[in-house]
Amino acid sequence: MNLPNYKEARKREKNYKRISYILDKKYIGKYSEKKYFLKTYGCQMNEHDSENIKALLEKMGFIEIEEYEHADLILLNTCSIRENAHNKAFGMLGRLKHLKEKRKDLIVGLCGCMAQEEGVIDQIMKKYKFVNFVFGTHNINHLPEIVDKAIIKNKQEIEVFSKEGDLIENMPVRRANSYKAYVNIIYGCDKFCTYCIVPFTRGGERSRRKEDILKEIDSLVKDGYQEVTLLGQNVNAYGKDLYDDYGLGDLLEDVSKTNIPRIRFTTSHPWDFTDKMIDIIAKYDNIMPSIHLPLQSGSSKILKLMGRRYTKESYLELFNKMKEKIPNVAISTDIIVGFPGETEEDFLETLEVVEHCKYDNAFTFIYSKRENTAAAKLKDEISQSEKENRLQRLNNIVNKYFLEKNKKLVGCTVEVLTEGKSPKKENLYYGYTKTNKLVNFDGQNIKEGELVSVKITDAKTWSLDGKVFK
Ligand code: 5AD
Ligand code: SF4
Repeated sequence: MNLPNYKEARKREKNYKRISYILDKKYIGKYSEKKYFLKTYGCQMNEHDSENIKALLEKMGFIEIEEYEHADLILLNTCSIRENAHNKAFGMLGRLKHLKEKRKDLIVGLCGCMAQEEGVIDQIMKKYKFVNFVFGTHNINHLPEIVDKAIIKNKQEIEVFSKEGDLIENMPVRRANSYKAYVNIIYGCDKFCTYCIVPFTRGGERSRRKEDILKEIDSLVKDGYQEVTLLGQNVNAYGKDLYDDYGLGDLLEDVSKTNIPRIRFTTSHPWDFTDKMIDIIAKYDNIMPSIHLPLQSGSSKILKLMGRRYTKESYLELFNKMKEKIPNVAISTDIIVGFPGETEEDFLETLEVVEHCKYDNAFTFIYSKRENTAAAKLKDEISQSEKENRLQRLNNIVNKYFLEKNKKLVGCTVEVLTEGKSPKKENLYYGYTKTNKLVNFDGQNIKEGELVSVKITDAKTWSLDGKVFK
């Protein structure tokens, strides 16, 4: 038993190890008739972790199935970012409790960010005793031992390390598809924005070595991949913990030289977005002109309370510089409304920034109080209805600009990476532009992962329509 500990999770000792993964032979194929169901909640980091989890389970012999009712092993890879992510996972655990009453041999596990929370583990030990095992974000590599132990023994196993995890190279991975791939470049986050639980659930910033990243991308290129997304909680911090003079800009330049057709990266913190990064994005055609630049709030007073390390003015300066230097760049954002202390005037400042930036995409949220974060101690005096009203007003404006931006593309020919065929209509495909816009388009005999030219014929708020143009 190893339980999560926030004090430990707050430390930034940087004394982790770099390890090359080796799967103990005794687990290979051990559970070859068993079926598993994995449900993933949350961000791309979690989706990518699930690709490792699936590969490990499959090496143990498990086969993936889509209906959890028939699985021998059910695993939830959870997210902590907001209350509703918690509620979804606990809702699922409620359903699994009933299933487990009928099927005593069913094995249920929980992993991901919620596993790193003291309060969640407390609840699991008291109220969800039927959960067989829990492991955290820092010990995915121990999955075979943990699952094996949970199946053999019949008692709850909790293995959560709060100390930042070791950096594991060469973990098996079962990628979701064969044309676009996630590649981790940095784990963890040291920013400690006051609302955010991530620095506690994902630990300190740990960059992968550039050689390891480039080797992984080279092999993706050889396998015919068209797109990589470089992942990190804050990719702009890449290299700071490892090199004196090699950061995200340098890495992007080196990745660009692998000749992978499309490079994306997420997420960026506006505070450490350098001029060099902007210049490199502008210079190379295979670095997509698509930047996710979370604003969070347009009020400098609220940004300070959020611990964001930039002001409304410095954000706008950065935003304008990107627009000026990177041809046709699309910028998307995240915004939180109803942060403790946000007045109507503060909120209007956010709307003012949104009116200026006219984002290509935006994810908008009501502030959610997270256990153990600094903001959880602030007095939250805004009523729920006021928070909902602000979210609605914000959404009306962001949506107006999505449509306006999309309409500008009607008549243009754009490059689309085909994701698949529409299940509804013959000869209708869908995919994404360089600027990450969803396009539904007519065509014939197009393969998943094919890059095609599409003429845009119509624009909606969240998607475009088009025809393949030859
Ligand atoms: N409440 C609401 N939104 C949050 N986010 C992170 N933490 C919280 C929270 N406590 C949002 C931020 C972040 C995105 C991934 O989720 O906008 O950029
Ligand atoms: Fe959370 Fe992002 Fe801030 Fe890190 S930079 S604390 S992940 S919002």
